[in-house]
Amino acid sequence: MSGLFITFEGGEGSGKSTQIKLVKTWLEETFPGREILVTREPGGTPEAELIRNILVTGAAEKLSVEAEALLMIASRTEHVQKVIIPALQRGAMVLSDRFSDSTLVYQGLAHDLPVEELIAIHEFGFDDLQPDITFLLDVPAELGLQRAEHRQYAQKDPKSEAESRFEDKGIAFHQRVRAGFLALADRYPGRVIVIDASQSPEHSDKQVKAHLAARLPDRP
Ligand code: TMP
Repeated sequence: MSGLFITFEGGEGSGKSTQIKLVKTWLEETFPGREILVTREPGGTPEAELIRNILVTGAAEKLSVEAEALLMIASRTEHVQKVIIPALQRGAMVLSDRFSDSTLVYQGLAHDLPVEELIAIHEFGFDDLQPDITFLLDVPAELGLQRAEHRQYAQKDPKSEAESRFEDKGIAFHQRVRAGFLALADRYPGRVIVIDASQSPEHSDKQVKAHLAARLPDRP
């Protein structure tokens, strides 16, 4: 596949969507004419967006963790087969707001499901597809949750307010999420780049672009 697959991961309020917008603009300017596809998980196809709605709305305890993991991987399987792989085959640069690492962390390390089994279920859904680069936007859980709350409040957006099922899982859960992501960064040091996202969006953006600028000239 001739494309490039970049994922953005992190806890709540880590600023992924802002960074993705900034990177998209920069890639468009740097590689004129190249297709840049922005997508997200859970979601990214009409059916996967329906699954997203089940996953991110309602009471925190409404689903078993096992069902939650299977729904995440079902929506990802649709997304990979219908959107990501075709785009990479066309030569696109794909920027995804979350991917498999989120399941390994949120459902695996933070909710105590066995990570190796989650990896095996992914392999059942689609051939082993790993991002070329993963930016982990690392922020303390307390700060991230505060930012996420303010964002919802400031936007007065009923949709984002309704999408608070994971935020409602509590601070201890989100501390495990942060630790889980950092553990994955240790496990995949060549792929996962840890970005200090505790300061301004501009501060994160500088780190992300410095990495991309050093890495991308090697690619056709
Ligand atoms: P978002 O806030 O980045 O839109 O993601 C929605 C929520 O879904 C977020 O709290 C993280 C959670 N999530 C998982 O628990 N596992 C996953 O595999 C994915 C993709 C998201």
